Amino acid sequence: MANNLQILILAAGKGTRMYSDMPKVLHKVIGIPMIEHVISKAYSLKPKSITVLINKNLLFLKKKYSNLKFLVQEPQLGTGHAVKIFQKQNKNRSAKLLVLYADNPLININDLKKIKNELNKNDVVILGFKEINNSSYGIIVQDKEGSVDQIVEFKDASIEHKKIDICNSGIIALSSKSLNLINKIENNNVKKEYYLTDIVKLSKKYNYKIKLVTAADSKTALGINNMSELGIAEKIMQNQLRTKAFKKGVSMIDPDTVYLSPDTSFGKNVVIEPFVIIGPKVKIGNGVVIRSFSHLEGSVIKNNVVIGPYARIRPGTILENNSKVGNFVEIKNSKVNKNSKINHLSYIGDTIMGEAVNVGAGTITCNYDGVKKFKTKIKSKAFIGSNSSLVAPVTIGKGSVVGAGSVITKNVSDNSLALTRSGQKNFKLKKRKK
Ligand code: UD1
Ligand code: CA
Repeated sequence: MANNLQILILAAGKGTRMYSDMPKVLHKVIGIPMIEHVISKAYSLKPKSITVLINKNLLFLKKKYSNLKFLVQEPQLGTGHAVKIFQKQNKNRSAKLLVLYADNPLININDLKKIKNELNKNDVVILGFKEINNSSYGIIVQDKEGSVDQIVEFKDASIEHKKIDICNSGIIALSSKSLNLINKIENNNVKKEYYLTDIVKLSKKYNYKIKLVTAADSKTALGINNMSELGIAEKIMQNQLRTKAFKKGVSMIDPDTVYLSPDTSFGKNVVIEPFVIIGPKVKIGNGVVIRSFSHLEGSVIKNNVVIGPYARIRPGTILENNSKVGNFVEIKNSKVNKNSKINHLSYIGDTIMGEAVNVGAGTITCNYDGVKKFKTKIKSKAFIGSNSSLVAPVTIGKGSVVGAGSVITKNVSDNSLALTRSGQKNFKLKKRKK
């Protein structure tokens, strides 16, 4: 059968309950704006078209998603009004429509597939979920035989309705027939909004077939309207990432304190201690140990590297096999070759480091002169004495030694000793009075 499904993602709402200047649907869950979670799930259903309904603050999304259609809703008069706008320009009048809410990032793809299938046999398919402590969701009212009568918004619900524990996820699919009822929706309710959910009772009036699908896992129906719900979504999705990491054999003593990104990749025998944050674009090889309180992003960590505790690995860093980065060390846009060690209190930026280099405590690469950034090269087997400053651009030769406390401004050739500190003088003190 030809796939005649259109998808509409509603993202035009003001998001007032977030109390944030940023549009709600751009708030991130596991590092990805919630609208993008929904868009990628929409893609996976392989629909005929995806349309995103936005307000004017989101127009910039058009660039990123040039293959999607965008419609602007100004002013925002409710979810029913949103679908009216879609329908007004909809030329494919025989198509079915699946409506997704952009504030539903956890929605389960299998539930969506089920809805898509049910839409072949029904005119309206809604996704409900069980929630015994409902304080905001629309309520799905069924008759004694279990067929759906209507959805009542929480604010409009009677005490009797509030006893029902089947809630509306917001996801709804409509046949072309029921979609045609959209213009009959009115706004005579508490919020004076056009509720999309009213299409259910309208369809009932016309004896159209209505099907309730219940979410396999209630958690996935979470709608995000405020920061607290955003926090809950983050927790749920972080747990999913941790479960995936465990399946790869990653060992975490206290997984609840380890934050991962969806693109974090792991080799075998990786150990992550408590309180570690792994931001986007981090690749971790085999046998890597990441000690507590370390923060990594945009880096490649090769095999048997040990990081932390308290290390910061910033974008553009490559740590080659068996290298070590210890406590209070920050590394940015640098390559650290095999067996090299930067164990304590250092900043290494825009640096290429050879193999088996030892960087002493407190060493700083001075890569920035206030205007431009410069590179440092530290060749293999060099030894940088503690508390040295390497003022870039500068090269430290192979096998060379930099004396502790030096400020190196000129290149050091291979197998040389560089010292810049003034000689020590000792003077005899007269006996001091206490
Ligand atoms: C909606 C449902 C409610 C359901 C809940 C699930 C309605 C009337 N109510 O309530 O039954 O339990 O979701 O999370 O649909 N939007 C627009 N244009 C508008 C208004 C909203 O595009 O004019 C978008 C929002 O950006 C959001 C989505 O539609 O992504 C839902 O709107 P929201 O205001 O969050 O609805 P809820 O009150 O959560
Ligand atoms: Ca919502």
